[in-house]
Amino acid sequence: MNDRANNAAVRTAKRISVAAMRPYDVLIGAGLTDALGAITASVCSGAARAMLVADDTVDALYGDRAAASLLAAGLAVGRFSFLHGEGSKTLSTYARLLDALAGARLTRGDVLVALGGGVTGDLTGFAAATYLRGVRFVQAPTTLLAAVDSSVGGKTAVDLPAGKNLVGAFHQPSVVAFDTDTLSTLPDDTFADGMAEAIKTGVIGDESLFERLAHGRPAAQEDAVARCVEIKGDIVRLDERDTGMRQLLNLGHTVGHAVELLSNFTVSHGHAVAMGMAVMARAAHAADLTEPDVPARIEAALQNSGLPVRCPFGAEALARAVVQDKKRTADGIVLVIPERIGRCVLRTTPLDALAGFLAGGTEGAAL
Ligand code: NAD
Ligand code: GLY
Repeated sequence: MNDRANNAAVRTAKRISVAAMRPYDVLIGAGLTDALGAITASVCSGAARAMLVADDTVDALYGDRAAASLLAAGLAVGRFSFLHGEGSKTLSTYARLLDALAGARLTRGDVLVALGGGVTGDLTGFAAATYLRGVRFVQAPTTLLAAVDSSVGGKTAVDLPAGKNLVGAFHQPSVVAFDTDTLSTLPDDTFADGMAEAIKTGVIGDESLFERLAHGRPAAQEDAVARCVEIKGDIVRLDERDTGMRQLLNLGHTVGHAVELLSNFTVSHGHAVAMGMAVMARAAHAADLTEPDVPARIEAALQNSGLPVRCPFGAEALARAVVQDKKRTADGIVLVIPERIGRCVLRTTPLDALAGFLAGGTEGAAL
């Protein structure tokens, strides 16, 4: 694409401002991959080098176009690629990325560009947070999940064998540029992963968003993504460091992370969160903490996106896995309870009461 087309792509993109301590924009629109260089240069003044980070799948699909765009904007471009999947969100990939940054002599004025899904964004963000005690980075999400959730808010991390996201940092991107065209190559199951986080956002904060998503892939996709980003941005503005209300974004994640761990990461994050939300809705209903229609509405919405609502693990196994969760304290864990669609509350539950509570949502589980 030429400069004029790139400018048009940026001009016509939706723009949402995230009012973090250091504010930044989220751009959502078609054709932004070819404008990535101009977007990056406009927010990272003084940068001479960019390291483009992508997994092998995304690198093959969009790496050359993104690199060409960065080059055209006057940046020297290094490229780092790794095997796709959660299994690469590790200290060892992180260490290889740091070596690549040092090898390419990136300085504090330079920039990392995360092109891909949540794995790439979390990994790149963590490297950016720590390399030279912090350099700038750009999020260019290519999955629905990354667009509606992980690219916004500055949580970065890698996993340890003991559990998800156990090493990380808060580090906000300089800009988020979501090229909606990239969704055209996304497998259906991976699109569904993003629907799980989008539906979650509706359950947390906006019943009309939930209704737009409840019948499967929404007609006005960009609007739905933008609404998710607005809701997440508002929560991040009020609690950037995750000490209070940001924990609402973890609806379905305590059980979801346990499912990922127990399945040895064969269940994807979005599918695990879907199971987690359904378990929480049923458990909350059994404990009389939610409006009666909540479990059925959440289950129907998830199923209409091809997501699972039954969890293969029983309450005892889930509760044991939760002990690894970073959200727990010495004797309790904060659970997110869907009181009604559009409103959730935080409820601290003692660890020794957790299995009993979850049993209300896991009846019939095999393990
Ligand atoms: P992912 O990054 O592994 O991407 C899923 C798969 O889709 C990969 O195989 C990838 O190669 C492929 N892919 C990506 N874009 C594609 C495209 N446009 N076309 C074809 N294939 C494409 O996974 P994800 O679901 O995007 O993200 C999950 C991760 O996000 C988890 O590690 C989770 O913990 C993390 N997460 C982080 C936050 C946060 O706030 N930081 C929030 C939610 C989830
Ligand atoms: N996805 C959880 C958060 O950003 O806080």
